[in-house]
Amino acid sequence: MNILGIETSCDETSASIVKDGREVLSNVINSQIDIHEKYGGVVPEIASRNHLMNIPVVVEQALKEADLNFDDIDAIAVTNGPGLVGALLVGVSYAKALSSALNIPLIGVNHLEGHIAANYIKAKELEPPFLCLVVSGGHTHLILVKDYTDFEILGRSIDDAAGEAFDKIARVIGLGYPGGPKLEKLAREGNKEAIDFPRVYMSPGSLDFSFSGLKSAVLNFLNNNKQKGIEYEPKDVAASFQAAVLDVLTDKTLKASKDNNIDIVAIAGGVSANQALREQLENALKEENIKFYSPDFIYSTDNAAMIASQAYYNFKDNKLSDNHLDATPNLKFGLD
Ligand code: KG4
Ligand code: ZN
Repeated sequence: MNILGIETSCDETSASIVKDGREVLSNVINSQIDIHEKYGGVVPEIASRNHLMNIPVVVEQALKEADLNFDDIDAIAVTNGPGLVGALLVGVSYAKALSSALNIPLIGVNHLEGHIAANYIKAKELEPPFLCLVVSGGHTHLILVKDYTDFEILGRSIDDAAGEAFDKIARVIGLGYPGGPKLEKLAREGNKEAIDFPRVYMSPGSLDFSFSGLKSAVLNFLNNNKQKGIEYEPKDVAASFQAAVLDVLTDKTLKASKDNNIDIVAIAGGVSANQALREQLENALKEENIKFYSPDFIYSTDNAAMIASQAYYNFKDNKLSDNHLDATPNLKFGLD
C-alpha cells in the first residue's frame, strides 16, 4: 500500500511516499529556515504563504523520486494537528482536495504520533508496546505506545517544551534560530560542569517535566554577570544548560520504563536529533538492559515520511478521515 504523506504543521513543507508503513520511497522536505531566520523564529503568516507555494512542488517531486504517478497512490495522509493553524490548513485543504479528486481514502495524522512512527522506518522489528520520549519544539511527553494507535501519556511538560527551552537559551546567548542544533554544537566545546543549573524533578515519583525554572536560572546567571561586569563563556553556559535538560530527560525516561516494566524505549521529535541526548539515554538504558531506538536524523525533525508511516497503522485500525477533517492546532493524542 502506497501512502502519500503531507506535513505542513510548522516551517517545513514535506511530501513523502511510504510503502506499507515502513519503506520510504521518497521524502522531500522544503525547509523555510532561511526565510524565518532573520525574524529569530517562525512567522506564522509567512509560513502559511510559503506552504501554499511549495506544496504542489514537493508533491510532484515526491512522486518523481518514487517513480510513481497519482494512480499508484492508495491513500493520502496529512498532519491535522497540533501545529500552527494556518500552516496546518494548507496541508489539510490540499490533502482533502487530492483525496477527493483521486477518490482514495484520506487519513488525518497527529503530528506527535507521526514523530513516534519515525522509529518504524529504521527499526523494522520495532513493534508496540514500547515507551517513547517525544521531545520537540512544542512538546515534551513520555508516551506509552500500547499499540500502533493506542497511546497513554505518562508524563508531560507543565510549562516549556525541551526544544522551546533550547531555542530561548540559544537566542539569549546570541546563537539565533533554530537554536537547538546551534546550541548543541557550541555545547560540544564547553564545560558542562562549569555552572550548576537546577535539575527540576517536580514531586517525588512524578514523570512530568518543567523547564521554565531552568530557563529563568540561565537568564538570571547571564543578567547577574552582566551587571557585575563578569565575563562568561557562552560555550560553558550552553554545555551546562544542555546537561541540566539531558539529566532530567534521561532520569525520567529511565524511571518511566522501570515503573511500567517496559524494556523497549524509543525517542522522537526534533530534540531527539541531539547526539548528546541520544548517547546519554542509550548508556543509561543499556545499564538496565533496556533496548533503545532512535530514528535516522532526517526523520527526527519534521518530515512527511513519519506521517505516511503512522497513517498506514491508522488505516489498518480503520481510523480514517473524511472531507470534514479540520486543522486542529491543539490536537490531543489518540485521535480524539
Ligand atoms: O519536531 P520538530 O522539528 O518540530 C516540532 O514539532 O516542534 O522540533 C523542533 C525543535 C526545535 O525546538 C529545535 O531547536 C529542536 O527541535 N532541535 C534540537 C536539535 N535539533 C532540533 N534541540 C536540541 N539539539 C538538537 N540537535
Ligand atoms: Zn515536529
